Amino acid sequence: MASQPALDLNSYNPYLRGPYRPVERELTLGDLPVTGELPSDFSGAYFRNGPNPRVMPTGMHHWFDGDGMVHGVYLEDGQARYANRYVASADFEADSSGQLKKGGIMYPATFDGSPTTYKDTANTDILVHNGELMALWYVSGQPVRMNARTLETLRTETFDGKLPKNVSAHSKVDPATGEFLFFDYQLFEPRYSFGVVSSDNRLAHFTDIELPGPRLPHDMAITENYAVLMDLPVVLTEQALKAKRWNIHFDPKLNTRFGVLPRNGSGSDIRWFEFNSCYIYHVINAWEEGDEVVMTACRYLDNGRPLDDRFGPYAGMVDVLALRAHIYVWRMNMKTGETRETQLDDTVSEFPVINLGHTGKASRYGYLATIPDTSTQIFDGLMKFDFETSIGETYRFPLNCYGSEPAFAPRKDAQSEDDGYVVSIMTNTVDDTSALVVLDAQDMGARPVAQVHLPQRVPLGFHGTWANTHEMAAAEA
Ligand SMILES: [Fe+2]
Repeated sequence: MASQPALDLNSYNPYLRGPYRPVERELTLGDLPVTGELPSDFSGAYFRNGPNPRVMPTGMHHWFDGDGMVHGVYLEDGQARYANRYVASADFEADSSGQLKKGGIMYPATFDGSPTTYKDTANTDILVHNGELMALWYVSGQPVRMNARTLETLRTETFDGKLPKNVSAHSKVDPATGEFLFFDYQLFEPRYSFGVVSSDNRLAHFTDIELPGPRLPHDMAITENYAVLMDLPVVLTEQALKAKRWNIHFDPKLNTRFGVLPRNGSGSDIRWFEFNSCYIYHVINAWEEGDEVVMTACRYLDNGRPLDDRFGPYAGMVDVLALRAHIYVWRMNMKTGETRETQLDDTVSEFPVINLGHTGKASRYGYLATIPDTSTQIFDGLMKFDFETSIGETYRFPLNCYGSEPAFAPRKDAQSEDDGYVVSIMTNTVDDTSALVVLDAQDMGARPVAQVHLPQRVPLGFHGTWANTHEMAAAEA
């Protein structure tokens, strides 16, 4: 591949073009123009992580490989500010100085003694714990701490040197205790572990969990007393495991299992529940209800389409990235062992979020991106889904405009779970601009109450979050 001209290869890759192509500038800019009126009854910031290759690739490049970049839109006292910064992971720094030996997932894994076998970009997930941002990577990597007010990278997080190995994207913060509950897995070995970090950033608990083979879990859930971990049938093929390459398939011989583990338990305390075979990228929430542990999530759908030759060597990547899923609920009875699973909606939707204050406890509402039947992954609307009535209410982005994963921003002194706003960055593919849209969560179908016009386009990307101003530690002078 190295002898092929870079331009030819990149021209097949839709995730380096249009609304996906990287931006070149790191900016900090205040006093942004606003259409409508920015409500003054909420205060905080929306953060969005995603891939933004620092230099255009010269070989095969997966969308998941791009250097991490976090975009932040700060809304305080009716004023709006924007900043964006690369996630300066250890591998990003090594790559920038020409020292990195590892590549992306379209190349064989590299075993060089560092914590990961591919370039760890921390480009996937973003959350707030102990007052600071933490950028996380889907292949399980080294968490990167960033200052929530400036987006400057602070350090690679090791929890005082106590982190045994890595942390996966979609590890969770418990709003009730301030704890960070995380999982770690390894691509080529049946290794899976769970840990708890205290609200003041100390590793408080860690345990290994036995697996029958290497797995690729993407998310986990927490409840008041448990963590829910996943053993899913999308795995690396036998040949990929031997060749140490990234090539995944759905193995029909494997079941879908959810493991319910007491939060302070050891791996042998895990209780596995079997369900109909499926894959799950993203959990919506989980909680306890009587004897049951209840989990809501987006259940992946095979799109059933043939590979599209237009994308040449990227046809397989494009096929997998055209995400399709439906909202489901799974119930696990801890006393009787009974299970139940139910589809709740037939809208194709993914990238779910909730009011983060309800993480791990009963929640009535989820907010999801709706996904049209297009070849690349785009979000054409945001749906508020009511789990009590199973009714969704959707805001559709204007023509040629596509959103990012939403986040729920609570109103100050909120009176109910949905008392607040739903925010998302919208990118206009015609005029190449982006805006933060602010929707009234109690009137989702209505026009945005405000749009904050950002100083540059924000490439479509991965996960976002909301942090209230008081949750962000002050920037150091
Ligand atoms: Fe994800």
